[in-house]
Amino acid sequence: MTILVTGGAGFIGSHFVRRMINQDTRVVVLDKLTYAGNLENLRDITGDSRRSKQFTFYKGDICNQELVEYILSTEGIDAIINFAAETHVDRSILSASAFIDTDMKGVLVLLEASRRYAIKKFIQISTDEVYGTAYHSAFKETDALNPGNPYSASKAGGDRLAYSYWITYKLPIIITRASNNYGPYQYPEKFIPLFITNAIEDRKLPLYGDGRQIRDWIHVEDHCAGIDFLLTHGKDGEVYNIGGGNERCNIDTASLILDELKKPGTLIEHVKDREGHDRRYALDCTKLKALGYRPKIEFETGLRDTIQWYRDNENWWKRIKNSEFMGYYHKQYNHRFISPCLQNQ
Ligand code: NAD
Ligand code: DAU
Repeated sequence: MTILVTGGAGFIGSHFVRRMINQDTRVVVLDKLTYAGNLENLRDITGDSRRSKQFTFYKGDICNQELVEYILSTEGIDAIINFAAETHVDRSILSASAFIDTDMKGVLVLLEASRRYAIKKFIQISTDEVYGTAYHSAFKETDALNPGNPYSASKAGGDRLAYSYWITYKLPIIITRASNNYGPYQYPEKFIPLFITNAIEDRKLPLYGDGRQIRDWIHVEDHCAGIDFLLTHGKDGEVYNIGGGNERCNIDTASLILDELKKPGTLIEHVKDREGHDRRYALDCTKLKALGYRPKIEFETGLRDTIQWYRDNENWWKRIKNSEFMGYYHKQYNHRFISPCLQNQ
């Protein structure tokens, strides 16, 4: 089997590539290498003569129809797993157009090419954010979508476009909606790696608002195992929630990180909240459990291991934090911090 993994140099995509290569699948990656894409995430594969034989990399945009069609016509692709996306909510609030391009138009290009080249399985990696805030119970796959920020709105567009290709053309698509991922190789703009790396550097942790927002955390390896499971057991035209079953308040997660690193609670600074901040995400995963999949990694254990990974891999994240990231960080956070002394932090 040969699969095309778009966005395979990003956080979740690179874990999925590793998992599939280790199962002797041939993997072709198409990745634009935006600020979030990093070939270092795949170094263990590209640097291994045996495993690299199963791996082909194309640097390019999923919006590039010619390139996508070239890959499908020459590489003998059986299935496409579309991870490629602009993924950070805060960046989408600063500027939304790249999100519309990749998360909607890019999905259209992939779907059209899949139709033309009769791809046997197309998995669209969507997100739990498409449901919006879970005020009461956890969301089921049949619940209405109510995205509340430009990122989640564009992901909802890609999600429904994929579904429309099943209804209209019977393209064999599956849509997954996962909860918040954490684990190694996550770009340090996201909450958990930002807070771990800031704490290691004795920088302030910018906690939005009252910090009582709830996220359901799933380890990235559990998420990838769920997608792999659906490649063989998922039913075409269906949506599957993939949640971790670990609902935690942000302030509690921040405290766990500080405790593990033996850093003081005073590093936490409550800052101006995210605009339109979704208060709680929660997924009902009965449908996936009934098929036979459930996540294995307990949150506190997974978080401890993740903290250790960031401690052991300072070169990886320091290189990122010393480049494009700092410009973004100042734009996003300088006006949020209250204490003037924090302007440089
Ligand atoms: P990420 O930002 O770490 O990686 C995204 C990757 O996509 C990068 O390698 C980037 O270079 C690539 N990319 C971006 N635009 C592209 C384009 N136009 N063409 C080709 N490649 C492009 O993201 P992630 O956290 O690994 O998320 C992967 C997918 O999972 C996304 O679709 C995201 O919406 C979804 N998701 C993420 C989470 C989470 O908690 N991180 C949860 C649920 C769903
Ligand atoms: O739920 C799935 C989604 O999870 C994915 O679709 C997105 O791609 C992914 O980025 C993530 O979105 P969130 O907005 O939930 O993740 P983020 O890491 O940005 O924030 C997690 C929580 O932490 C959220 O309540 C906002 C809060 N936060 C975040 C940052 C970056 C802070 O309090 N301070 C921060 O500096």
